[in-house]
Amino acid sequence: MSAPLLRVRDLATHFFTRAGVLKAVDGVSFDLSAGEILGLVGESGSGKSVTGYSLLGLIDPPGRIVAGSIRLHDQELIGLPPAALRDLRGRRLAMVFQDPMTTLNPVLTIAAQMQLALGAHERVSARAGRARAADVLTRVGIPDAARRLDAYPHQFSGGMRQRVAIAVALLNRPDVIVADEPTTALDVSIQAQILAEMKALVRDLGTALIWISHDLAVVSALASRILVMYAGRIVEQGPTATVLRAPRHPYTGGLLDSLPSRAAPGQTLQQIPGLPPTLAALPAGCAFHPRCARADVACQVAPETTLAGTRGWRCHHPLAEPAP
Ligand SMILES: Nc1ncnc2c1ncn2[C@@H]1O[C@H](COP(=O)(O)OP(=O)(O)OP(=O)(O)O)[C@@H](O)[C@H]1O
Ligand code: SF4
Ligand SMILES: [Mg+2]
Repeated sequence: MSAPLLRVRDLATHFFTRAGVLKAVDGVSFDLSAGEILGLVGESGSGKSVTGYSLLGLIDPPGRIVAGSIRLHDQELIGLPPAALRDLRGRRLAMVFQDPMTTLNPVLTIAAQMQLALGAHERVSARAGRARAADVLTRVGIPDAARRLDAYPHQFSGGMRQRVAIAVALLNRPDVIVADEPTTALDVSIQAQILAEMKALVRDLGTALIWISHDLAVVSALASRILVMYAGRIVEQGPTATVLRAPRHPYTGGLLDSLPSRAAPGQTLQQIPGLPPTLAALPAGCAFHPRCARADVACQVAPETTLAGTRGWRCHHPLAEPAP
């Protein structure tokens, strides 16, 4: 088997605050292959965004990557000088944020900001830059892209603005795009359109994509593999179809049971009891134990990851594998 494009091992990103050391990412490991879509899912505060920012070297004090390895091809990214990381960002790794205005400058036309993004990495003439910009805008579903290049961000609707931000991420044909809840603020039909377009884009361009969402339904519609995060750790990972059919971690089981599509008409939606823990006061042992119906005394010790073929889970008492 060929080496993965991105190889993350034992990544730990902590925040050193007055409330103590918050282990936002605590020993995260996964691989990403070229052209693969990986879904990263979990409740609010589980460490999804901090994982994404860590990959791009975007962690600021009081946060710091304290351990682990992030290898892109054969290059180690942890410990790279800031200038080298800046050079990689956009060119090899790009990020799409929930709020497109994090990426877009309100006082520049789309053409001007795309030219700046291109010019940061290579010398491109204005004419060639416009042609590349129009091409990526067309790819993300912006009609009449060549003309729309001269518009400002506020002249686009929310859904179109997010498409423009995705186009900026695509401009330099990066190897990996990390998309952090980019469709969460959009209405459901626009979200569905963008998800379908992203799937086609990844297939056409061979870009690998990490799609972060708190919504398991969104992630499972898009990703071929799922990572489920809880309190800074990956508690379950595997191919989407297998995880959906046969979750092994009780938290994944709870997330699936609370999907509206799994409830019969008129039936009350199930919920995982309790709330996600705050990192300043994490429960000892398995962090999920206060909310877990299967918890017993063994769960006072944090479980290690059990690996089985293409999947893995961290639980002392995993859900049973259903009969085939
Ligand atoms: N700048 C910061 N300073 C201190 N702690 C932080 C900071 N950023 C993140 N954290 C800690 O890291 C935890 C994980 O944050 P993160 O943003 O990764 O969560 P998330 O899974 O993306 O949640 P959401 O679904 O709400 O976006 C937070 O709950 C918080 O405790
Ligand atoms: S280790 Fe124990 S508490 Fe944690 S998810 Fe498994 S059964 Fe539940
Ligand atoms: Mg987040």
